[in-house]
Amino acid sequence: MTPTLILLHSLLRWAVILIMVTVTATMAFRYAKASAWTGTDRVAALIFTIVLDTELLVGLVLYGVSPITRGAMKDMATAMHEPSVRFFVAEHPTIMVLAVLFAHLGSVFAKKASTDRLKFGRATAFFAVSTGLVLWGIPWFRLMALS
Ligand code: HEM
Repeated sequence: MTPTLILLHSLLRWAVILIMVTVTATMAFRYAKASAWTGTDRVAALIFTIVLDTELLVGLVLYGVSPITRGAMKDMATAMHEPSVRFFVAEHPTIMVLAVLFAHLGSVFAKKASTDRLKFGRATAFFAVSTGLVLWGIPWFRLMALS
């Protein structure tokens, strides 16, 4: 089960990145054009959070079964001194949870904004931070190790 979960978590990253970048760029473009906020924008913001929540859920399950995290639990002090292990035990989950938090804050603040321009402005700012965190928190070194 674990290799399948890791593969799912790994592949889902591409959908996450594609959707996050596309929605953030669209929000910024519509902010610049002073567009009217429509139902489509609401759905786009919803998709942004849903795809990230899904990856978060897979990540949380993975945290319980991954050989890296399970191994680390046996001797946390040593694990925290090993950068490649500490990354998956502490840094990667923390950065990604922050990204999820910013995504939800962006969605809520955009919804509560009094004008359409403010909705796009808030969505752009929060989604950009969230996307930046995800891009920062992804273990790209794993991809490089495969080549
Ligand atoms: C929400 C956005 C997230 C993205 C885009 C993401 C992405 C990734 C990627 C690309 C990998 C490497 C997979 C591979 O090498 O094939 C990975 C590994 C991992 N992720 Fe995430 N992750 C996210 C959130 C989380 C969260 C919130 C947790 C834990 C609470 C988590 C736990 C892990 C663990 C434990 C591994 C290592 C699994 C192993 O190789 O044994 N991830 N993640």
